[in-house]
Amino acid sequence: MSASPSIAPSDAPSAAQDFQVRSLAGTFAAEVVGLDLTKPLSDDDFKRVHRAHLDHHVLVFRDQQITPAQQVAFSRRFGPLQIHVQRKFQLAGQPEVLIVSNIKEKGEPIGLGDAGAFWHSDLSYKERPSLGSLLHAQILPAEGGDTLFADQHAAYEALPETLKATVSSLSAEHSYLAKYEELRARSPWRPALTQAQLDEVRPVVHPVVRTHPETGRKALFVSEHFTTRIVGLPEDEGQALLAQLFAHSTQPAFTYRHEWKPGDMVFWDNRSVLHLAAGTPDHLPRKLYRTTIEGDQPL
Ligand code: OGA
Ligand code: MN
Repeated sequence: MSASPSIAPSDAPSAAQDFQVRSLAGTFAAEVVGLDLTKPLSDDDFKRVHRAHLDHHVLVFRDQQITPAQQVAFSRRFGPLQIHVQRKFQLAGQPEVLIVSNIKEKGEPIGLGDAGAFWHSDLSYKERPSLGSLLHAQILPAEGGDTLFADQHAAYEALPETLKATVSSLSAEHSYLAKYEELRARSPWRPALTQAQLDEVRPVVHPVVRTHPETGRKALFVSEHFTTRIVGLPEDEGQALLAQLFAHSTQPAFTYRHEWKPGDMVFWDNRSVLHLAAGTPDHLPRKLYRTTIEGDQPL
């Protein structure tokens, strides 16, 4: 009889970790405490994290001392990663990591400094917008630099019934270019886009109310940053409706404010929430690493 095959360490099943998922009081978000993402997750642990992500929309993993490669590996468990159209701010050797930072070295920005200046869902201007994004804190300012999240299931559910019915039959256009010139005026480093980049970000049309592909819950899917018009409505009527939806969807009652702590990695569901960078004083350095997971075409 042949000897039983030896199991190479890389084939050994990952051990379960002892971690907790705790709701953050008074909000929809939750923190994950005691999980070490430098280690590969066991299938059961992955299932718990996945379930918590669907239930809470925003998960805050505390005390993560992970490398960019480990962030990429963890992110990939949820789907293929998307590469941002601003190639300039990819981390060297790790194109799936986008540097989000207000730091300048020799007068040159090292990262996307104005990411999240308006409420948005990442990459909603793509045919297949993002499933979720992960930001891992690298350098945090002594004050400011919070990120706000707004629950778009709650926003949808709180609409008056007649408005729910109206918006449920509408579609809207999303465009990366919607606020590009305005942002360029504020952030002179933003380059004029090449034709190849313009082709990559051609406007797309998505339903105003989308159904989450995993939970079946409905959510509003429009945002100040990227939604330009409602398809099939006269321009003024469409703009008035969008303004009403933008104001409604980001009310404090639907939002969670994340105050970053060292080691935080925040993983949000772009199908369920909008987010906004609350702002950082220019003289206080802030740097985070972002990975972005591709999602489905919204339905
Ligand atoms: C982003 C983003 C917000 C922030 O990286 O997608 O919107 O607070 N960031 O940095
Ligand atoms: Mn964003």
